[in-house]
Amino acid sequence: MAKNLEIADLKRIAQRRVPKMFFDYADSGAWTESTYRANEEDFAKIQLRQRVAVDMAERTLESTMVGQPVSMPVALAPTGLTGMQHADGEMLAAQAAEDFGVPFTLSTMSICSIEDVASVTKKPFWFQLYVMRDRDFINNLIDRAKAAKCSALVLTLDLQILGQRHKDIRNGLSAPPKITPSFLWQMMTRPQWCMGMLKTKRRGFGNIIGHVKGVESMASLGVWTAEQFDPRLSWSDVAWIKERWGGKLIIKGILDVEDAKIAAATGADAIIVSNHGGRQLDGAPSSISVLAEIVDAVGDKIEVLFDGGIRSGQDVLKALAIGAKGTFIGRAFLYGLGAGGKAGVTEALEIIRKELDITMALCGERDVKVLDRNNLYKSGLETKPRMAQVKKKKTG
Ligand SMILES: Cc1cc2nc3c(=O)[nH]c(=O)nc-3n(C[C@H](O)[C@H](O)[C@H](O)COP(=O)(O)O)c2cc1C
Repeated sequence: MAKNLEIADLKRIAQRRVPKMFFDYADSGAWTESTYRANEEDFAKIQLRQRVAVDMAERTLESTMVGQPVSMPVALAPTGLTGMQHADGEMLAAQAAEDFGVPFTLSTMSICSIEDVASVTKKPFWFQLYVMRDRDFINNLIDRAKAAKCSALVLTLDLQILGQRHKDIRNGLSAPPKITPSFLWQMMTRPQWCMGMLKTKRRGFGNIIGHVKGVESMASLGVWTAEQFDPRLSWSDVAWIKERWGGKLIIKGILDVEDAKIAAATGADAIIVSNHGGRQLDGAPSSISVLAEIVDAVGDKIEVLFDGGIRSGQDVLKALAIGAKGTFIGRAFLYGLGAGGKAGVTEALEIIRKELDITMALCGERDVKVLDRNNLYKSGLETKPRMAQVKKKKTG
């Protein structure tokens, strides 16, 4: 792969190499995609505070996320169908993350199974859980994650029903893909992707097929999720899942202060401020625009992590400065994977590391752990007055 300078370079290559159905699956949001766009656009409104003539030598990006050491506070987010961006995608991305020293989170809806990923990694990875109606299956999934020595469970709460994504419906998204004339054309023009897929046996939902009663294949993501996912999921479910799991628990999909307070009261170890990358409730605010108020409300009670719209190390720095302890990237690593497999994921992480490191230095900081709102010049977001309000309340 030629040297790429930014995540957008990897995205362009991925678009050429990955069949349209799967590239679009990554590059899409719900309905009008307004929240998907806002996730990225709102980062650009935040300005950084430049400092000069301060010692910028010997910088460190090392930190911890839920008590686990990380070479930089950027984990790979759980993403479904990752093995369709590139053959054996979850296994390759997990290996890249392991070599880099950052957490990899395997989705329930992955192509490679928990056991597949465990077989090619040495360090523990994280597992993301969707709650389905079949509780035996969920218990079994939790036990499989424990047996694979996963070191954190990420419980996603913002997808009890599936947000409508027009591109997926128009493309007839399914895994394995249906062989239509248009898909055949995609295959002919993407020979590397095809070769990889022909060589692997992993083309269906590895965690599910053969484990959920009556599920042998997935006709359509929408129909399948409507049948299997539990629309009655409630906060009381968090308690039994926490107990069954017994390890570090991260609650994903918090976008509201009230929900953040309830999540903090469950005794979970962390929350992820997230709107699922703009793929669920279109019209919801961007993740970065609500981060400050959530940190102010619960940051002293629970670790606050963040995802949504991160395309550069500068975005990571902004989220950390506002108060996130760590961040996750979804599409940024998927584009790397689609562009160049394991090497592409490593390249995505390297791009972000370099941007984070240089930005931190130019802000006059040497340690990623001490970044705070003093490193921001203007947030440019509406959260500023509300932040002030919350602070005022606290100080009486
Ligand atoms: C293609 C794709 C698939 C996803 N699948 C899942 C999933 O299976 N489980 C989950 O909790 N989140 C899933 N997400 C959401 C991500 O974990 C994360 O919240 C989001 O990607 C962050 O936004 P970003 O892509 O702008 O970094 C998915 C996101 C994408 C882009």
